[in-house]
Amino acid sequence: MSGRKKLGILISGRGSNMEAIVAATQNESYPARVEVVISDNREAAGLETAKSNRIKTVAIERRSGASRQDHEAAIVKALDGAGIDLICLAGYMRILSKAFTERYEGRLINIHPSLLPEYKGLDTHARVIADKGTTHGCTVHIVNDEMDGGTILAQTSVPVFEDDTETILAGRVLAQEHKLYQKVIREIFEGRFAHLGMVTDG
Ligand code: GRF
Repeated sequence: MSGRKKLGILISGRGSNMEAIVAATQNESYPARVEVVISDNREAAGLETAKSNRIKTVAIERRSGASRQDHEAAIVKALDGAGIDLICLAGYMRILSKAFTERYEGRLINIHPSLLPEYKGLDTHARVIADKGTTHGCTVHIVNDEMDGGTILAQTSVPVFEDDTETILAGRVLAQEHKLYQKVIREIFEGRFAHLGMVTDG
């Protein structure tokens, strides 16, 4: 039996960060593997990518009329049923409740396409360009109930050039996201963030 830690990845769409994490875990020396990919959108392209990598997928949509509490309870059931050690949000488009973030304290992280605390929220690339910013990037952070507000674990910056379009800049940031996320996950299990209360391989 593999002693590797179990990752649960939550997505809502394309899933390229999830795919980059899956690729990293294909190296046997990587300390974790992807146990389940959960999406709040059954149309998410990332679900097909996960399936083609033979990873278990679950679509848990929030049906109209259902409360956030009910929706999150279904996600908790899937995560706990799979014995997940670390939950990685990767393009997951819903804000999680305080009850959810507290339940998984030390085991819940996100990647965001900006150098937090700058540019929380959506449309970060367009806003950086509109502001004539010269530096942009991505952040992996602990998730709390404040949107994009938890403790920062690591960041990578990229330059912004005068003729950048939103698409070009997004691509430059995304290439760094794909490297950074799997690196931080490995470092978490190596104990690098134990002082912040993050789970370790111990
Ligand atoms: C990424 O830019 C991520 O930082 C943000 O949403 C995007 C998701 O892309 N939270 P993907 O689904 O991982 O391709």
